[in-house]
Amino acid sequence: MAKKWIVANLKLYKGKKETLNWLKELLKIVDQNKNNIVVCPSALFIDEAYKLTKNTNVKVGGQDCSTYVDGAFTGEISASALSEEGASVVIIGHSERRRLFFENNSIVLKKLEIALNLGLTAIVCLSGESKDDYVNEIDAEVRELTKGIDPSFAKKIIFAYEPVFAIGTGVSMEPKLVNSALAQIKTTTKDVFGKSTFAIYGGSVNLETASEFLKEKNIDGLLIGKASKDASVFAKICEL
Ligand code: PGA
Repeated sequence: MAKKWIVANLKLYKGKKETLNWLKELLKIVDQNKNNIVVCPSALFIDEAYKLTKNTNVKVGGQDCSTYVDGAFTGEISASALSEEGASVVIIGHSERRRLFFENNSIVLKKLEIALNLGLTAIVCLSGESKDDYVNEIDAEVRELTKGIDPSFAKKIIFAYEPVFAIGTGVSMEPKLVNSALAQIKTTTKDVFGKSTFAIYGGSVNLETASEFLKEKNIDGLLIGKASKDASVFAKICEL
């Protein structure tokens, strides 16, 4: 079976010591060859996280990057800075960025172009707003977020479908429905690029439910928030 992407989004959950202890625990217990494991800590700890993981198969990623390449943009973190620190992946357009920091798809597309041009793998989160018409919403958004992107980047893009009602709420979307949502990501990206991208799901996945999602054909992996806070739980999900 193809490797799945198992991504820990550590959000603002952990300080430096906690992040590095979490990583050490993960590396001690996880089988690093079973799946593609990505850990996204605070940008401040990417350098140290990279040093700990560099001879392993665990990849380190950023949780966001700037819309700008460089210049007078106080407080921003550029994709190239992330890359220099050792990140090979970056999450873009997460629902918390959209909701709390007013990011829209034109901002997300700019970030995507910058990240891909630097060789980063981009986890592009769709807005996941519609509960009923999600198939049409996904089709329209994927088209918007791939406009002008060269098809050669298809395998460096991982679309993440995270319905807003499922993020951090304890209520995830039904695995079968997620499978149909991700099938639409694959259909649309195949239409746009000539080959489909990866498609993953996020939203209240936990150790009990993860295997139900990973069984589904179109689900290439999981983006995990709360359930990744405990390294041993996240490690178990990585081994499913
Ligand atoms: P959650 O978060 O697993 O806590 O719902 C997922 C995410 O925000 O990426």
